[in-house]
Amino acid sequence: MIFPSGVMCCRGVMNHAPTNASITKVCYQIGIVGFAYAPALQFMKGMLSSTFMPFDIQSLIHARLGENYDLHDRYVNRAFVKVLRTIGFDRVYARAQGAYLYDQDGMDYLDSLGGYGALNIGRNHPVVKKALADLLALDMPNMVQMDCSLLSGILAEALVKRSPPHLNAVFLCNSGTEAVEGAIKFARCATGREKFLYCSGAFHGLTTGALALNGSSMFREGFGTLLPGNAITLDDFDGLERELATGEYAGFILEPVQGKGVYYPESDLFWPRAQELCRKFGTLLIADEVQTGLGRTGRFYGFEHWALEPDIVPLAKSLSGGLVPCGAILTRRGIYDKIFSRMDRCVVHSTTFGRNNLAMTTALATLQVMDDEHVIENSERMGKALADGLRALMDKHEFIHEVRGKGLMLAVEFSEPKSLRLRAAWKLIEAAGKGLFAQMVVIPMFKKHRILTQVAGHHMDVIKITPPLIIGQKEVDRMIAGFDQTLADCYKFPGAMWDMGANLVRASLAARKAA
Ligand SMILES: Cc1ncc(COP(=O)(O)O)c(C=O)c1O
Repeated sequence: MIFPSGVMCCRGVMNHAPTNASITKVCYQIGIVGFAYAPALQFMKGMLSSTFMPFDIQSLIHARLGENYDLHDRYVNRAFVKVLRTIGFDRVYARAQGAYLYDQDGMDYLDSLGGYGALNIGRNHPVVKKALADLLALDMPNMVQMDCSLLSGILAEALVKRSPPHLNAVFLCNSGTEAVEGAIKFARCATGREKFLYCSGAFHGLTTGALALNGSSMFREGFGTLLPGNAITLDDFDGLERELATGEYAGFILEPVQGKGVYYPESDLFWPRAQELCRKFGTLLIADEVQTGLGRTGRFYGFEHWALEPDIVPLAKSLSGGLVPCGAILTRRGIYDKIFSRMDRCVVHSTTFGRNNLAMTTALATLQVMDDEHVIENSERMGKALADGLRALMDKHEFIHEVRGKGLMLAVEFSEPKSLRLRAAWKLIEAAGKGLFAQMVVIPMFKKHRILTQVAGHHMDVIKITPPLIIGQKEVDRMIAGFDQTLADCYKFPGAMWDMGANLVRASLAARKAA
């Protein structure tokens, strides 16, 4: 125990950065001499640096920016690093504002991915930043736990005010998957049933409960037996009725517009019918608004497009203001009170960070920004302008099969071209892996046009577009021009685009061989 106390008693010797001379003095003071001196010098230098240097996040970032990918390769997810390096996405971003990212050289990148939908009001919004700084200046008590904090009450009130009247009780948490986990527990507890019905292709998060509702085998593989449930195909009215009529389901969970692939039912009657059948057979309807919520589809909630009245609504992503994670579950008071039914069950579902002041502040500021800047209206207007512009490209580019979506949750789907020459090239690429053509488009969109997009899911030729909802005509025009020029390059065969496609094929085959 000599070391910590020794360090403590040297405060008078050290002011800021420890020098060799000052450390030598300390070593003598605490009796480290001879052989032990050199390693002790190094060790103490580290210890004293961290003890006496004031923590300075800006210096830390400036000193180490650029080490990003090496650090992740060493300590985090090296498979992800490999993917980013293979497709040339391994940029180092230094700054971000609104809909743009800036790399170390100050080059701008139009962010059409929007942090997977967590950046509806754009990056580093000044109102949210100020709110956080103002909050911190108050030294408010945070996470007391055995109290009812003011800001969580105000946020719950604000969410209820923006929701249909029957959604009048709120549980606050930290993320989308956690909101879905809560929804699963709420539905089980309220109905006394265990099973869930979900949609093919669905995505509700990746913790084990949410994973059980995932409609894609790729995400489930390797994670063992999950909660009981069944998948239903969109627009399968008979299947839907057959399943719900069993009376076995606690909940039917849907994404009003699916994140993976941006699919929704072809028939506008499918979701309302699902609601009707849920009511008839005692199943709770859960509308997962984690991605579609907060204006993404041009309405506050995606379910408003079908005038639904879901029983449970998980929310998250953009509630964070893009800065502090925040999630919520909205439900009926009657359901809520079945979970927290007695005094001894008052924390039967809870989470340490769920009502923390930083998250509550960002969420409240975000809601205010959405109102003040008419973000939902902008999502609808710019979404239409972008979809119209992309659809207009279909006359020019035979690769585009469909442009679909709502608000600023859009997808461009590609399919095999008609002309013989291009069809052969398409087949070559797609034989190595379905979806490689879309990947082939995403890369030059990024490298040449500096527009960040992503393929919309595994094994699909779909590119998803979910930019911040604050974009204007300039960003819409840039995206349309990016797609136009990238697809125009695909007509040069052989050419740079298809060479890059061949490289992707090689990387994909090598990855499969290594697996
Ligand atoms: C519809 C939906 N639900 C749940 C989740 C999980 O959210 P999170 O990543 O915050 O856990 C996502 C994430 O993409 C989502 O799109």
